[in-house]
Amino acid sequence: MAATGTEKQESKAFYVTTPIYYVNDAPHLGHAYTTVAGDVLTRWHRQRGEKVWFLTGTDEHGQKIMRTAEANDVTPQAWCDKLVEEAWKPLWEHLDITNDDFIRTTEKRHTDRVQEFVQDLYDKDQIYKGGYEGPYCVGCEEYKLPGDLIEAEDGTRLCPVHKRPVELLKEENYFFKLSEYGPKLLEFYAANPGFIQPESARNEVLNFVRQGLQDLSISRSTFDWGVPVPWDEKHVIYVWVDALLNYATAVGYGANQEKFEGTFPADVHLVGKDILRFHAVIWPAMLMAQGLPLPGKVVANGWLMVGGEKMSKSNLTGIKPQDLTSHFGVDAYRWYFLRAIAFGSDGSFSWEDFSARYTSELANDYGNLASRLAAMVGKYFGGALPEATAAGDAEQAVREGLAEAVAAADRKIGEELDFQAGILAIFDFVKQVNGYITEQEPWKVAKDASPEGQARLATILYTAAEALRGVAVLLNPVMPETSQKLWESLGAEESLGALSAQRVQDAGTWGLLAPGATVTKGAVLFPRLEEKPA
Ligand code: ME8
Ligand code: MG
Repeated sequence: MAATGTEKQESKAFYVTTPIYYVNDAPHLGHAYTTVAGDVLTRWHRQRGEKVWFLTGTDEHGQKIMRTAEANDVTPQAWCDKLVEEAWKPLWEHLDITNDDFIRTTEKRHTDRVQEFVQDLYDKDQIYKGGYEGPYCVGCEEYKLPGDLIEAEDGTRLCPVHKRPVELLKEENYFFKLSEYGPKLLEFYAANPGFIQPESARNEVLNFVRQGLQDLSISRSTFDWGVPVPWDEKHVIYVWVDALLNYATAVGYGANQEKFEGTFPADVHLVGKDILRFHAVIWPAMLMAQGLPLPGKVVANGWLMVGGEKMSKSNLTGIKPQDLTSHFGVDAYRWYFLRAIAFGSDGSFSWEDFSARYTSELANDYGNLASRLAAMVGKYFGGALPEATAAGDAEQAVREGLAEAVAAADRKIGEELDFQAGILAIFDFVKQVNGYITEQEPWKVAKDASPEGQARLATILYTAAEALRGVAVLLNPVMPETSQKLWESLGAEESLGALSAQRVQDAGTWGLLAPGATVTKGAVLFPRLEEKPA
């Protein structure tokens, strides 16, 4: 909407979403993977000084949840309430997830708007009544095409994701005219080559849409745990249509126009590749049907695997996120999966790999650098950060290294969602600083009591401190707790203010730390690992 003459319209928020997860069970490593990625991305943009909005939530309707509740002898609502309050929200809090809102699809702010949206499509002649017959996977809550299925040894047809038998549905349903949107979608993908990422995900969607789309059944009539179809209350709205709309209802669709226009559409929908088609095909078609703007991009992460299969609620490692955080700490947990697995590719969790990387990259490379610097400033300068008056080529190289790390990390994490490459750029710089210290040997320079010697010593330590100042800012979105500890240890708060107020754009500017600041040896950033729990 155009800004009015009198009131300047605030710029639109950078809007990031995670999937809203099914609450048939507690969250596992896979859900935490996508949510942490979303949190790192939004924290990165906040650190740039942008206005951002980060949404997560829970998907609470449908047959899967209803059956789980029945099996546990409680109402679906009671089941959802319990899981949300006792499992989902506490995990996000534990992992330092800074979502701005948490939407539940059973909330009235959502269900009322879902009814209006669907009624509107019906009034626009985008929905008709028809018969549906075909396979359905309750695990996916998805209508399958016969060609999607795999066969068990006894010939039973199975869902390829859940490896469980599909159910044959034969219902009278309402249909959305999805088939009409194929050409418009293809046009849109062509005009927006970055809309679906990574490339493999884009290709999969293009192939799927090129084969021609079928109309989508958007109601179910054989059970009632859902949002009633407003003009025919014997039906409930298909759980995926209900769920996708969360991205609109949570930011004021049909209720708070100002909020909606200041937020919608999402700049990034983060999803797993299992739910790519819903987000890259059905969701944009629903928006097109309403004349609403389309999202910036849909980015699909790969799967965390266990025993060669996608980790799922029915097939777990037996390792809960909390088992890992109690051993490695929350920050290392947030860092590990993004560091170890290229975003978009599949990867397996391994306790050994996590331990090895923790020890070499976090504890040795990064943590030791921070504690050595603080110890030397303490020992040689009584804890007061000295001034750099004798900088030369070696210092220039560190300075340039920081500027490069900032630029690379900002592009990789902030723009490309290549978290691994961004984190590597920062840690390559940490390695460079370690190399600098090793070469300069400040402990030897310290023995030279001449004014020149002392000036060199001061310069080396100031240079390392400045480098760490930049690292603290760059790693803040990934590992906020340890970055804060480092910030305090460098005595940066007094002259530069809060860590969260530091801008990525300024992180590579050299010479920000004020000489004279009190450097303290705080708690070790990454303590030695205890024995692995049995
Ligand atoms: O699909 N590896 O919810 P869901 C990586 N309610 N990511 C994983 C994963 C794994 N092994 N397992 C789960 C739903 N995920 C719908 C979404 S959105 C409008 C509705 C993550 O509980 C990944 O992001 O099955 C995946 O897409 C999502 O959890 C599926 O969660
Ligand atoms: Mg699933």
